Amino acid sequence: MDIENEVTVIENPEDFDALVNKKRGLPSDYIPEDLVMIDVPMDIERPESRMLRKVASDALTELFKEAEKIGFKLYATSGYRSYITQVNLFKSYAEKHGEAEANRFSAKPGHSEHQTGLTMDVTSENVDFDLVEEFGETLEGRWLGENSHKFGFVIRYPKGTEEITGYLYEPWHLRFLGIELSTKVYENNLTYDEYWKKYLH
Ligand code: DAL
Ligand code: ZN
Repeated sequence: MDIENEVTVIENPEDFDALVNKKRGLPSDYIPEDLVMIDVPMDIERPESRMLRKVASDALTELFKEAEKIGFKLYATSGYRSYITQVNLFKSYAEKHGEAEANRFSAKPGHSEHQTGLTMDVTSENVDFDLVEEFGETLEGRWLGENSHKFGFVIRYPKGTEEITGYLYEPWHLRFLGIELSTKVYENNLTYDEYWKKYLH
């Protein structure tokens, strides 16, 4: 097998700093043990996606409270996703857009950070609660980009980093890493893939 295409199975998927990407996948049977129902405004149909791991849910509550203080109303739209949900999601995107195109914006099963229970997609009314690039240009989206790390989150797929992360810009996709680590990633102006490779690997 071409070494470039080798995929590693993550050994400790419960670690808050676990790097999940196209090369590093979660075990198909991994389900976080401490999922809780989030306590923030949301627009979520699938019940499992209303859940996050406790520490990420608490951090999200703090982030949303701070946003509200300065007049921004944020909505959570997609949190925890089981392996099987990602199987179905990727399949339907691949049928609609073709696999190569789907692979630019949707993770294959086992490779979505949403399976960690540490990731939440966030949006606002300004973009009709959609997950679109324009969200990054709204005041809320810009504020998230500049402040999420103070609450333990990073924007996991920043603008212009498809070559590194493997995904298109997602100003809505927040990954919890804890305040210390997310602040370091932010201050180094790196994607988490780069930071992990440079400092944690
Ligand atoms: N949209 C991101 C890459 C995911 O599917 O997890
Ligand atoms: Zn996401």
